[in-house]
Amino acid sequence: MVISDSSLPLPISKLALGTWAMAGGQLWGPQDETDSIVTIHTALDAGITLIDSAPGYGNGLSEEILGRALVGHRNRALIATKVGARDLTGEQLIASVEASLRRLQTDRIDLLQIHWLGADTVLEDAIADLESLRASGKVRALGVCNFGPSSLATLRKTGTGWLTNQVAYNLLWRAIEFEISAACARNNMGILCYSPLQQGLLTGRFKSAAEVPTGRNRTRHFNCENALAQHNGPGHEELTFATIDRIRAIADGLGQPMTDVAMAWLLHQPGVTSVIFGARSPAQVTANLRASELKLDRATLAALDQASADLKKALGSNADLWAAESRIR
Ligand SMILES: NC(=O)c1ccc[n+]([C@@H]2O[C@H](COP(=O)([O-])OP(=O)(O)OC[C@H]3O[C@@H](n4cnc5c(N)ncnc54)[C@H](OP(=O)(O)O)[C@@H]3O)[C@@H](O)[C@H]2O)c1
Repeated sequence: MVISDSSLPLPISKLALGTWAMAGGQLWGPQDETDSIVTIHTALDAGITLIDSAPGYGNGLSEEILGRALVGHRNRALIATKVGARDLTGEQLIASVEASLRRLQTDRIDLLQIHWLGADTVLEDAIADLESLRASGKVRALGVCNFGPSSLATLRKTGTGWLTNQVAYNLLWRAIEFEISAACARNNMGILCYSPLQQGLLTGRFKSAAEVPTGRNRTRHFNCENALAQHNGPGHEELTFATIDRIRAIADGLGQPMTDVAMAWLLHQPGVTSVIFGARSPAQVTANLRASELKLDRATLAALDQASADLKKALGSNADLWAAESRIR
């Protein structure tokens, strides 16, 4: 679904750059700021417009780095950032957005997204306050992340013109196909796919669950005994790696890297506006850009669907990558 909204100064590119890992830290490990800045410039030079960040990524560090990278380049980028569950209304909302604007060194956020809903969020209040903020001119467009059918239905009744729902979506995480994709279509909202490579798993660099670093092995693919896990299940490690093998075999048959095939598969899915990949080096940006050129035929798409169908069924319709008690409603 192509979105060129009159509120945005540029069209949203089919591939977008995510900057979570640029914050490094416990979840992602050390990251050099100069590498991050060159990575952002490489993405802009290649025609990527949308760059995604959040106050929650490294406690503002990702936004700060993005702000520094965009000095002199602001008009080439659409800045997408977020507001956290505790800051969705009133003075907290204003304070969160003012702090983001300062870190990003700009006077306007292009796409402001609800990052997560809290257990006690009154969604109607958040919608009203965010729409007032948009009317004030500090935010050009509004979107959400991690919204399920019920929240999307509320948004349809009470909100106006919200652009996108940013959700986890990749060949190892197809939960949105159960209900959320259709609900986005009903709302006329585009899908922004996050973690398209399942945080590196779909590059094939990890040969087994034991190789996946702490921070990435906390998703529901993995056993809950991993240090940072927030769920209580046994995980689906064997099936996850068997699925990666099946996908790799299909990619090998096409003579294409698995990374490209995994990203291209997303670009062929209904409702997808843009695929937000994380990259920490110019080489990763350049490699991932190849996906936008790759056309997959119907037989290949069907084979990839089939290869990942068992894992899709095992993981079920809870679209929350991390928590068993879904925060997505
Ligand atoms: N709204 C939300 O709740 C939410 C949640 C999660 C993510 N997001 C957004 O989505 C973005 C992307 O998601 P993500 O970073 O979680 O996952 P991802 O894009 O699936 O994976 C990113 C990681 O994959 C590896 N990688 C990327 N391209 C590669 C290549 N060509 N070759 C080899 N390895 C490659 C890198 O690992 P190394 O770091 O090891 O190099 C990179 O850090 C985030 O930055 C963030 O903006 C949003």
